[in-house]
Amino acid sequence: MMGGLALLLLLGTLYPIEAAEVQQVSLTEAELGGNVTFQCSVSEEEKNVLYWYKQPLGCTIQTVATITFTKPTLRTQFNKPRFRVTQDSLTIMNISKEDEATYFCFYGSQFSHSFGDGVFLAVKGKIYLTCSVGATFDVRQILEI
Ligand SMILES: *[C@@H]1O[C@H](CO)[C@@H](O)[C@H](O)[C@H]1NC(C)=O
Ligand SMILES: *[C@@H]1O[C@H](CO)[C@@H](O)[C@H](O)[C@H]1NC(C)=O
Repeated sequence: MMGGLALLLLLGTLYPIEAAEVQQVSLTEAELGGNVTFQCSVSEEEKNVLYWYKQPLGCTIQTVATITFTKPTLRTQFNKPRFRVTQDSLTIMNISKEDEATYFCFYGSQFSHSFGDGVFLAVKGKIYLTCSVGATFDVRQILEI
């Protein structure tokens, strides 16, 4: 199980790893209906613009929110009461299976930009590849391919 999860974490984060230097992805486990808050630790000078990204397993990256000169805006798909964004955090409430993904921030000023550390949010229950053809796979099926 842990081996499978590690493989999926790798698959899910290959793009950001290549796009930036090597980044850490930590693991957070949540219960259905729980809450989680992600922090993006970045200094004042570096965050003229800050993006929150979500990458569900097997899916392309989605933009969750943008914070431009301290004004936070949730993208349409995430503009629901369950999502809350502040200048340096993203909170998801009443977590559901569809929230399972790697979350990471990207920030920058006109002088530099960086990816923040990613967090893989694992939601209790089977792991699904939500965007892949055939919709859902049990992780054990994936490992048997
Ligand atoms: C999640 O956060 C909301 C709003 O702060 C709170 O009402 C609710 O009790 C929290 N749920 C859990 C499971 O902690
Ligand atoms: C939490 O989400 C479920 C669906 O995923 C919904 O049925 C339920 O009403 C929600 N609970 C709250 C407190 O919003």
